[in-house]
Amino acid sequence: MNTFSRTVPPVAADRLPDLLRAMPKAELHMHIEGSLEPELIFALARRNGVAIPYANVEELRRAYAFTNLQSFLDIYYAGASVLQKEQDFYDMAWAYLERAAADNVVRAEMFFDPQTHTERGVSMQTVVDGLHRACVDAKSKLGVDAELIMCFLRHLSEEDAFATLEQALPLRDRFIGVGLDSSELGHPPEKFARVFARCRELGLHLVAHAGEEGPPAYVWSALDVLKVERIDHGVQSTRDPALMKRLAQDRIPLTVCPLSNLKLCVFPDLGRHNLRELLDGGLVATVNSDDPAYFGGYMNRNFTETFAATGLGAQHAWQLAANSFEGSFTDAATKRGYVDRLGAVFDRFA
Ligand code: ADE
Ligand code: ZN
Repeated sequence: MNTFSRTVPPVAADRLPDLLRAMPKAELHMHIEGSLEPELIFALARRNGVAIPYANVEELRRAYAFTNLQSFLDIYYAGASVLQKEQDFYDMAWAYLERAAADNVVRAEMFFDPQTHTERGVSMQTVVDGLHRACVDAKSKLGVDAELIMCFLRHLSEEDAFATLEQALPLRDRFIGVGLDSSELGHPPEKFARVFARCRELGLHLVAHAGEEGPPAYVWSALDVLKVERIDHGVQSTRDPALMKRLAQDRIPLTVCPLSNLKLCVFPDLGRHNLRELLDGGLVATVNSDDPAYFGGYMNRNFTETFAATGLGAQHAWQLAANSFEGSFTDAATKRGYVDRLGAVFDRFA
């Protein structure tokens, strides 16, 4: 039998949220800069003497009313400007990892955006040292396997991406892969074909945001030109039946972020999210938090709110958690261990 498949009995609606919270899971799509809570933004601003154009935490939170991806990115990059020292990057990552552990996340593959920091004069070493130290502590103190994926900002040039890769190469053993994020429309994956080809030669895992706001064509080129192993978001794929078939056949994981999609107006309400359609199409869809400090919830909230709004049940819960382990970049034996732990939690709820 396939390691990741299991038929599970139904669970009563009033017990489903507890099951969703208790089940072990992997988070595969989370930008560490997007976990910076307003309280920590203010604390770091004070510590580093950085001025921010909001009077207090409440005023900053009120500004989190987004209409699309770009309206979010503008405020997200501004928030990251309080990060200056190695300890700041550690504190941010540690705060996320504590929350992840509380949500029973047993593996976290965390994105970071070095260009947001290096262009302000913060060194690559400072960024990676702080994040990596938090990952090491997460394993010993929280039991969370945490890894880093370095993202290139797609609104910047190919030349900038190559320079970023060059700066990161001395720290090659501290990140497991590369990704592509930021403003999607007008910046198709093929803009970074040569950078991704080089990263592939270096043996790095490859992922890319595609089909968040952009068309199915961007998902095709992420697969065929960049040769990525996972698609981040990918929710626009349901518009293209041939693409759905390809994603299902090749078991390409989609790292879906429901509360992000809601906040960035990709779907008008959570009840209209297409997660069920992706699962019914046989895709390796997963649930993730994207930028939890900005979108109103970490992993468990993404699960409980999406299930409540769409009527998904225990079988979908199994599939989504199992998919998160299948889609992770760890070895087969570790994946089997995670699925065994998942099975033990489902047995308790049977
Ligand atoms: N950077 C942080 N969050 C992002 C998202 N949802 N899409 C693209 N780039 C991002
Ligand atoms: Zn993202």
